[in-house]
Amino acid sequence: MSATSRRFCQVEIMTVDYKMLGKQFAALADADENRLAMSANFVALLYAEIPDINWLGLYILRGDKLVLGPFQGLPACTTIPVGQGVCGTSAEKGETLRIDDVHDFDGHIACDPASKSELVVPLISDGRVFAVLDIDSPYGARFTEHDQVGTEEVSRIFVAALEAQQQPLDEFI
Ligand code: SME
Repeated sequence: MSATSRRFCQVEIMTVDYKMLGKQFAALADADENRLAMSANFVALLYAEIPDINWLGLYILRGDKLVLGPFQGLPACTTIPVGQGVCGTSAEKGETLRIDDVHDFDGHIACDPASKSELVVPLISDGRVFAVLDIDSPYGARFTEHDQVGTEEVSRIFVAALEAQQQPLDEFI
């Protein structure tokens, strides 16, 4: 196999159609208004469609802590203080964090020692973070700009589906 086709294969394997994923989730969300069910399906759909990851889930903001919500992967830490770890830092700053090597992130919390790179997207409504979406990969630098923009977009669709229910999003599940 030539270098070009190897690169082509890699791109083929890694590229996720996030627009399609957003549409698939919107269809699922339409069919079920239960927040726990909707959140569990959001996580399950993303985990099934994003390749080369070993963990994906939600941490829900409760007071000054993030509490483990629906997820796929190995059992994980149940509580993360805001401001700690990649998740707590993302929640505190209200910014997506894309970490190529988690061992370079000061204060990284290792739930699964296999995780090497991580993408954390804060879920924001009315200007306030109410949860984060956390995705881990056993490969270094797994997440690209395309993954960041795409997961931010599907997260906005998820937040919009929750907002459509017109219930407070504080401690939403
Ligand atoms: N690595 C995260 C902790 C959560 S697990 O990856 C599931 C962090 O540093 O916040």
